[in-house]
Parts: sequence; C-alpha cells; structure tokens
Amino acid sequence: MGNAKFDFSGKVALITGAAGGIGGVLADLLHDSGADLVLADINLAGVEAKAAELSGSSRTLAVEVNSSDPESIDALVERVRSEFGRLDFLVPAAGIYPEAMIADMPFEDWRRVMSINLDGIFLLTQRLLPLMGEGGAIVNLASVAGHRGSLGHAHYSVAKAGIIALTRNLALEFGARGIRANAVSPGIILTTMTEGIRAEKGDALLAQTPLGRNGEPEETASVIAFLLSDAASFVHGEVIHINGGLFMAG
Ligand SMILES: NC(=O)c1ccc[n+]([C@@H]2O[C@H](COP(=O)([O-])OP(=O)(O)OC[C@H]3O[C@@H](n4cnc5c(N)ncnc54)[C@H](O)[C@@H]3O)[C@@H](O)[C@H]2O)c1
Repeated sequence: MGNAKFDFSGKVALITGAAGGIGGVLADLLHDSGADLVLADINLAGVEAKAAELSGSSRTLAVEVNSSDPESIDALVERVRSEFGRLDFLVPAAGIYPEAMIADMPFEDWRRVMSINLDGIFLLTQRLLPLMGEGGAIVNLASVAGHRGSLGHAHYSVAKAGIIALTRNLALEFGARGIRANAVSPGIILTTMTEGIRAEKGDALLAQTPLGRNGEPEETASVIAFLLSDAASFVHGEVIHINGGLFMAG
C-alpha cells in the first residue's frame, strides 16, 4: 500500500506542512526517490526531526515558515533561491482544519483559515514560479470538502474550493512554460488533522465509504508523487480524488 517508487534524482522539491501527516510521508517518498528536499512548516522542530531521519546522498533542508505571513514566505523563497537556485516540484501541504458553524463563526477565524489555507498557497506559488521552468510541477492539496461542502467547516471548505480554482488558473497561465499544475482531493486520511472528525462522525463516514476504511497518508503521497512524475506528463489542471469512494457514494 502506497510504496510506489519514482526516479526523482536531481530534482529539487519543496513541501510545506512537512511536519504533518501527509507532508511527512511525502518527504519520505520523494527522498527515497532521490529528490533534494526543502521541508517547511510552522513547526520547525518537526521538520528538523524529519530532515534528521532522512539520510543518504540527496540534500534535505528544514525551514520554518508561517503560511499566513508574506514576509515569512519571502524568506522561504529566498532560502530556496540561495541554497538551490531553482525549484522543480512544489507541494504546499500546510493547512488547518478548525470547526465552527457559519452562524457562530468569528470573522477572525474565517480570515485565519483563508490566510493559511488559501492566501499562503497563492503567495508561495506566485513567488516561487520564477524559480521553476520546463518540467516543473505543482500539486496542491484540495479536499473532498472543496467539492461538496463540509458541515461545521465552511471556511475550510471554501478555501479548498479556492485551491481547486487556483490550480486550474495556474494550469492555464503556466502550461505554456512547461509547468504542470494539478491537485489532489483526499477524503478522510489517518493524520492528526482528522482525529476530531473521526471521533465525532467516523462510523457514519465509514458507512458512506465503499472501501470501508479510511486512507493512509502513504495513499495520498503516492498519488502526489505520480502527479509530479513524468508518468503524468500530460495530466494538467486536474483534481484527483483519493477517498475510497466516499465522494462518489456519500
Ligand atoms: N488528512 C486528511 O484527511 C486531509 C483531507 C483533505 C485534505 N487534506 C489536506 O492535506 C494537507 C495536509 O494535511 P495533514 O492531514 O497532513 O494535516 P496535519 O495536521 O498532519 O499537517 C498539517 C501541517 O501544516 C502545518 N501548519 C499549520 N499551520 C501552518 C502555518 N500557518 N504555516 C506553515 N505550516 C502550518 C502544521 O504544523 C502541520 O505540520 C492539508 O492542506 C489538508 O487540508 C488532508
């Protein structure tokens, strides 16, 4: 399950949210496939620990970033430029998933989710694109919530719908430069992010999932790696669902 291998030797990849469940497992996979990595997260200790785990001939750099802070994003971009001079793959996986009904949602909470989950992805991508060229690939993290809504998570759902639209616009604008842009839409994946919803609604969600189980982070990382790879060289502006059938059947 999720143990695909790719040849990414000589490629430089940046993953944000790399201290998290999906980002961390993706770091393992890209490292095992030979890529040099920049692992960024607001949790610096987390990315430093992950970088220390990864040994071998490729380089791994741990950098602190706050996805909601333009200056912090600029500092990360500058770090990529000074250390590697270019970027091949971008996977901005940083995100938060708070809970609130629209009726009770403080505007600050709405803005915070937009800022981290959407504005940060726009800024990071815009500022990194000058470092990317022919053969470059971006894979964004959308969500089933961005397609069909998510009761108690309107801010998250709207930000993820925005990610889907942003991905398609990146594809329109940067395809001519040979940079591909795609997204994945995971359903319920076994990471800390979904602990709350699994405790609250886990049985009901499983009942709506034809495969009858939740996803492992490896099962998202392998699809992201496929989309980054030459195996997906004509896949552009697409969103791939990863949810055991929940979207289709739920
Ligand atoms: N787990 C799922 O079921 C699921 C489903 C759909 C989409 N996603 C998306 O996948 C991505 C990764 O999710 P995950 O399950 O690995 O979550 P996770 O909570 O394990 O990891 C998220 C990471 O983002 C980092 N982060 C939070 N705020 C940040 C900020 N302001 N700046 C920089 N980093 C910040 C956290 O420190 C954490 O390491 C997210 O974008 C999430 O919305 C996850």
